[in-house]
Amino acid sequence: MRNKIVAGNWKMNNDFFETKTLLYELKKHEFNNSVTVMVSPSFTNLQQSVEILSDSKIEVIAQNVNESEKGAFTGEISPLMLKSIGVSRVIVGHSERREYYNETDKLLNKKIKNALGNNLKIIFCFGEKIIDRKNKKEFEIVNNQLSKTLLDVNKTDWKNIILAYEPVWAIGTGENATPEQVQEMHLNVRNWVKINYGSKISDIVPILYGGSVKPNNSHEIFSQPDVDGGLIGGASLYCDDFIEIINSF
Ligand code: PGA
Repeated sequence: MRNKIVAGNWKMNNDFFETKTLLYELKKHEFNNSVTVMVSPSFTNLQQSVEILSDSKIEVIAQNVNESEKGAFTGEISPLMLKSIGVSRVIVGHSERREYYNETDKLLNKKIKNALGNNLKIIFCFGEKIIDRKNKKEFEIVNNQLSKTLLDVNKTDWKNIILAYEPVWAIGTGENATPEQVQEMHLNVRNWVKINYGSKISDIVPILYGGSVKPNNSHEIFSQPDVDGGLIGGASLYCDDFIEIINSF
């Protein structure tokens, strides 16, 4: 039985006060107990979020991490800094970082290894662009992304990895992939893990879907056999929508 997970990707939204308001609102609600819930406030709000959620089961995760442990990298945040304030997981490989900050597969491989090597768990994102899907290359592109970023990860580190399939064309567009498209890609990803790391790992690695998940489509998407939850952008900024998505499992 794999963990069910719903993680909110808040991106560059919510200032100090808005973060506080949303967290207190979220804390008031009862969630489906079998779901692990995560939120990812901005760096400036991580510490207060950890404090506010210290009496809650909601986990606080970060949105980015540097590929080095420490040093002269102005403006960057290391795994050790995140861990020292009680953050134990980070999102790596989001398409917005690949696209706007030129994060290549090579760099992402370094980030993954630096995070995992410092016992910082990850949600690793990947996914094809619309042109790839139009050219029927979505499986090739995704498998290539996985091979370039995850192939030399230690077997023992896989317990700290959550995968997130996020087709770029579905992120923030309102156009979600169909449940069938999601399932066939998740099965392909699970097979990739099985071929490269064995079935013990592929059976337990959680694979989330992200891209325009809303209360009106989450149930159908989460019902697919290889979908273990979602990485939620826009809808996670609204307490009621986020709760409805969590409870749609
Ligand atoms: P969205 O974003 O739900 O707003 O499409 C998902 C994501 O970027 O993780």
